[in-house]
Amino acid sequence: MKAGIFDSGVGGLTVLKSILEAKMFDEIIYYGDTARVPYGVKDKETIIKFSLQALEFFASHQIDILIVACNTVSAYALEEMQKSSPVPVVGVIEPGVWALKNKITHKDASILVIGTKATIASLQYQDKLRVNGYTSVQGLATGLFVPIIEEDIKDTKVLKATMKYYFSHISIPPEAIILGCTHFPLITSSIDEYFNHQSILIHSGEAITDYLYRHHQICMNAILGETKLKLYASSSPSSLELIANKWLNSPQSFIAD
Ligand code: DGL
Repeated sequence: MKAGIFDSGVGGLTVLKSILEAKMFDEIIYYGDTARVPYGVKDKETIIKFSLQALEFFASHQIDILIVACNTVSAYALEEMQKSSPVPVVGVIEPGVWALKNKITHKDASILVIGTKATIASLQYQDKLRVNGYTSVQGLATGLFVPIIEEDIKDTKVLKATMKYYFSHISIPPEAIILGCTHFPLITSSIDEYFNHQSILIHSGEAITDYLYRHHQICMNAILGETKLKLYASSSPSSLELIANKWLNSPQSFIAD
């Protein structure tokens, strides 16, 4: 089985990593729109336009399923993509909410959703959680984490100061935090430490593998060897390759284009 993974840039590599580890696909085509990232500060129309253009990219690759790793795209363009795509298109919001439901059963649990400005403004996570009965949901745009992670200064005072800036009004650690942005799994330990290891952190990349199995019958450990991986970027493929080498941290061989 061949999957496509689409992201606004390099962040979706965190989702790719989880999917590779789950050994679900014979082949994966990753496409990051690195020329036009970030999407998280753009308006709905632009996000939809760029996402539909990504479908055109995947058209020649004969994929069986498209996974949208980007939370911002999942929040604004998923429906439009599903309408225009000949193959199933799965986003990360539904799996994230589903994973939370599996971990947190009492509906008055305090839940914090963090993501880009656009993802939080879309209210997609917050509304889906409320529809599922959760009564204490707070959304918080924490977009500065994205460049901090990409600049690889996440082990510095800069990240600590930024967490303080965003979280200082939260006096009691939330029971769960949804990491509603591709990049945030890379600062899991820092966020966990900030909240004194009191919060359950939900990572959409991990959530999606389970979701693909339960909702699309795509099994984990379905392949024996390595997934054949191809990385594409709309600009600077060599930078994507460099980051992939660092973030994937696996012997996986791939070709960047
Ligand atoms: N991939 C985006 C997301 O998960 C973060 C980067 C961007 O703003 O494009 O929302």
